[in-house]
Amino acid sequence: MKQVCVLGGSGFVGSAIVAKLSLLGYSVNVLTRRRESSKHLILLPNVTVQECNVMDDIALSHALKQADIVINLIGILHNSKKISFKAMHNELPKRLASICIKLGIKRLLHMSALQASAQAPSAYLRSKSDGEDALLIHAKELEVTIFRPSIIFGRGDGFINLFASLVKLLPIIFLAKPNAKFQPIYVEDVAEAFVEAIENMDTYGKSYDLGGPKVYTLRQLVEYVAKVLGKKRIVIGLNNALSYLQAFAMELLPIKLMTRDNVRSMEVDSVCVTSFPGFLNFQPQALEAVVPVYLIDKTPRAALNRFRTRAGR
Ligand SMILES: NC(=O)c1ccc[n+]([C@@H]2O[C@H](COP(=O)([O-])OP(=O)(O)OC[C@H]3O[C@@H](n4cnc5c(N)ncnc54)[C@H](OP(=O)(O)O)[C@@H]3O)[C@@H](O)[C@H]2O)c1
Repeated sequence: MKQVCVLGGSGFVGSAIVAKLSLLGYSVNVLTRRRESSKHLILLPNVTVQECNVMDDIALSHALKQADIVINLIGILHNSKKISFKAMHNELPKRLASICIKLGIKRLLHMSALQASAQAPSAYLRSKSDGEDALLIHAKELEVTIFRPSIIFGRGDGFINLFASLVKLLPIIFLAKPNAKFQPIYVEDVAEAFVEAIENMDTYGKSYDLGGPKVYTLRQLVEYVAKVLGKKRIVIGLNNALSYLQAFAMELLPIKLMTRDNVRSMEVDSVCVTSFPGFLNFQPQALEAVVPVYLIDKTPRAALNRFRTRAGR
């Protein structure tokens, strides 16, 4: 049984990948800062969760000792002095590559982002590009595959659910960058791409853009969310200057919802320039087939979760 070590396995995408790996019979070791954040994975067959400070080379080397395959999904949306894009998106892949080489682990799959490039307008996208370069430079010693998705939707996502909360709360939505374009992809399709790539030698040394079947503007997505929730909402698109002003005001809040760097990343359309990867034997799911299922979830479990949230448990 091959062991796959997943960094960032507790997160939204990571949980979907870990579930698929478990189903396929891989032995999976999820590295996390806090075991508590991965408790939903512990009951899956062949899955172990290990606390590890991935910023410490010795701890990371120790955690990777038994691994045959490594998947790195760690990413952050907001830069800070404590946790920087440089450390998480550039230095971590760089350190990970040299640890894998030292330990003789050849197979490494990595998550980047669509439109990551050295010339990108946002620090997030530039740092993701640096991370890709830090891995692809080792193409001779490592079998690297990189995925670059547009925004990812699915139960528990941070994007559609954020707009759903805003739509429920506000009668008028002042929307930054209303014409920014996205090609949303379903989380299960992203997870499937990772697991299908693992044993596929044709994917070694390659990067793949991942997007769903349709392109939407941000305004269209918000209006769609409102329609699904049955709410009539006025969406007012902000011009460029007001978009940055709104993000600046939001940076001052204790909870980071949006930053000016997030607005900068929307200066480039998050749309694939290549077609869906040919090695994948499926077509990506449409947003319309999935989003209503989790936005208006009427299952007993969802009702229980709502009661729990209301009761603060
Ligand atoms: N979601 C999207 O729409 C989207 C789109 C394009 C690209 N991506 C990329 O896909 C990857 C996964 O995204 P996601 O949505 O699943 O993110 P997520 O739910 O926020 O999960 C991120 C994971 O990274 C780990 N992590 C975060 N900060 C860390 C830190 N300072 N030190 C160590 N670990 C840390 C967390 O692990 P623990 O908390 O367990 O330690 C968590 O499991 C990221 O690289 C992201 O940039 C996501």
